[in-house]
Amino acid sequence: MKKTASCILCSLMIQLTVIADNNRVLYKDSSAPIEKRIQDLVSRMSLNEKIQQLNQYVLGENTNANNLGEAVSTIPAGIGSLIYFESNPVLRNEIQKKAMKESRLGIPVLFGYDIIHGFRTIYPISLAQACSWNPGLVEQACGVAAREGSMAGVDWTFSPMIDIARDSRWGRVSEGYGEDPYANGVFGAASVKGYQGKNLSDPYSIAACLKHFVGYGESEGGRDYHYSDVSAQSLWETYLPPYEACIKAGAATLMSSFNDISGIPGSANPYTLTTILKQQWKHDGFVISDWNAVDQLINQGFAANKKEAACKAFMAGVEMDMTDNDYADFLPQLIAEKKVPMERVNDAVSRILRIKFRLGLFEHPYTPEASESERLLLPQSIEIARKLAEESIVLLKNEKQLLPITSRYKRVALIGPMAKDKENLLGAWQAHGQVNDVESIFEGLEKEWKSNIELDYAKGCDFEGDNESDFKEALTAAQNSDIILVCLGEKGNWSGENASRSTIALPSIQEKLVSELKRTGKPIVLILSNGRPLELIRLRSQVDAIVEIWQPGVAGGASLAGILSGRINPSGKLAITFPLTTGQIPVYYNMRQSARLKEGFYQDIPTEPAYWFGHGLSYTTFTYGNLKLSATKIKKNEKLIAEVEVQNTGAMDGKETVLWFISDPVASITRPMKELKFFEKKELKAGQKSIFRMEIDPMRDLSFPDSNGLRHLEAGDFYLTIGNQKAKFELVD
Ligand code: NOJ
Repeated sequence: MKKTASCILCSLMIQLTVIADNNRVLYKDSSAPIEKRIQDLVSRMSLNEKIQQLNQYVLGENTNANNLGEAVSTIPAGIGSLIYFESNPVLRNEIQKKAMKESRLGIPVLFGYDIIHGFRTIYPISLAQACSWNPGLVEQACGVAAREGSMAGVDWTFSPMIDIARDSRWGRVSEGYGEDPYANGVFGAASVKGYQGKNLSDPYSIAACLKHFVGYGESEGGRDYHYSDVSAQSLWETYLPPYEACIKAGAATLMSSFNDISGIPGSANPYTLTTILKQQWKHDGFVISDWNAVDQLINQGFAANKKEAACKAFMAGVEMDMTDNDYADFLPQLIAEKKVPMERVNDAVSRILRIKFRLGLFEHPYTPEASESERLLLPQSIEIARKLAEESIVLLKNEKQLLPITSRYKRVALIGPMAKDKENLLGAWQAHGQVNDVESIFEGLEKEWKSNIELDYAKGCDFEGDNESDFKEALTAAQNSDIILVCLGEKGNWSGENASRSTIALPSIQEKLVSELKRTGKPIVLILSNGRPLELIRLRSQVDAIVEIWQPGVAGGASLAGILSGRINPSGKLAITFPLTTGQIPVYYNMRQSARLKEGFYQDIPTEPAYWFGHGLSYTTFTYGNLKLSATKIKKNEKLIAEVEVQNTGAMDGKETVLWFISDPVASITRPMKELKFFEKKELKAGQKSIFRMEIDPMRDLSFPDSNGLRHLEAGDFYLTIGNQKAKFELVD
């Protein structure tokens, strides 16, 4: 009797739950697990609604309040995502209202945008950021970008770019973190954390997008969009590791690359997009194609037409089609013809919805409409941009301690096309950065020196061309000065997408200006702002000091001024090698050993590059004690501790970065001459000592992948290198 009563109660409860569930609409219930919400929503969607989620459109580049209505009416309510070029949340909210109210199921739109090195508060380009060796600062800067972006209505940035680039003719070398896989992984992960915050659903978090998956930096000859010959060994050893590190850091999405990876394009490559990314690494977010990359499969000779392109990209593992409309146009037919199974469609839609749910878009689809002064260019944001610029600047040369410029110099000639320039200090991908936000070199120095040092400006020449008419004025300023600061470099649009150059030398007019100034016999400081390593072979010998400021963003002028005056001690070190000449490309620190140790070099130039990866001077001296190891022999399951004491033995406080490299001289697959495994930057006051420490974990630091991605840990001798010290240890079975 008792049993029967409880059964009745039970079934009553089940029935009540069902009724409640029907009324509740599971996918709208923020307390339900995300996976259940996705399942529920997908089960309610029509095929057309699913396909719309797989598409990204562009929301007019010059959209403003006057054509807002038109922009809203042209966007389908059920679209999956938009590239949002606006900086005002009003338009976003109008579109979002349409999606929430007019689409049958009220699925929010995901608003994406290229926030590459800042949204409005532009900070240094990624290549410069890596030279700071300060991932914490990079995380903070990306946090600023996320805050400004999210308050403008952006949910998702197409950043970070973690393509290893070793050919500086490629314009996009500026967008990545240099030549080293480990450094790209560390800085990429820092930026993912900065954008995504602790939780994607936090108010100022935006989703990151790792790009361009994968091997894009290997584009032949540095020509953009070209074929890339990436062996399976290089794929696993060089190009994939930063992606794996950033996926471990929680990156929500990826963008597939334009390049043809040894015959199978990155945007239709089942091995990279599905086998590695989804099956081996278990990434549960989604992949978007790069702009037009689906259609471009036709140019690449991988698809005969748009329909085949859509099929190949989608089946390989690209879930969202950026701007091509191929998925919208052809997936219905491809599904009807059974070339695309519904399971794949459901999986793709689920992946996109997962990110929308994680971002909290269903609960908070709209962006609060705060004023510009509440959200853009806040003093604390500029402060972060300034610190990052200071730490990114690399002092390449400083003969006879010419720098810093102290009061022994009364008159400084400030010469060159970059001296008063603002636009180019922003670099490529300026997002909503504005020229007037930037402090120029001239302005920075004027503020720094006030009336203590007299600044005499002359432009000298343009960035390119052959007009020498301004040389005379520059020479007069130089003659009348105690020291010459010559500010040269590249225009911002010489870097970035579709901005390859056949030479990494500066245009000859800029080099000629320096030769002219040299005739005055005055000391010369060369200040460079550029988006790639430059060929300095003709310039280096003519000047006494070289300061590389990269494209430093809004606070570039103040940061450089601090370094020139000695208020700031330079602490940047190169994250990419400067070749001696363009013809020396590729040259990078982690090359393989040549078969003949002392032969095989170019006959017409020296063998060494101009400045190696890791090079960077300081105004103080750091003295390294002996490198100590906790053991000289370890087993595969043991750890080794390495330590070095570093002392600031100069007179000025400063920051030192210790870069720890491992070499494996003999292995079953040849290894690079050395590989960066760890780095650490610390501030040391004048006279202060500190121990820098690295823990070597054999599986993590001594193993290497084969061409299938399997890791091998082989017994034998290894070397640990820091600075000019090398310590040997043995790994035993
Ligand atoms: C093409 C670029 O390759 C990519 O990096 C960028 O994110 C997209 N366009 C969107 O602007």
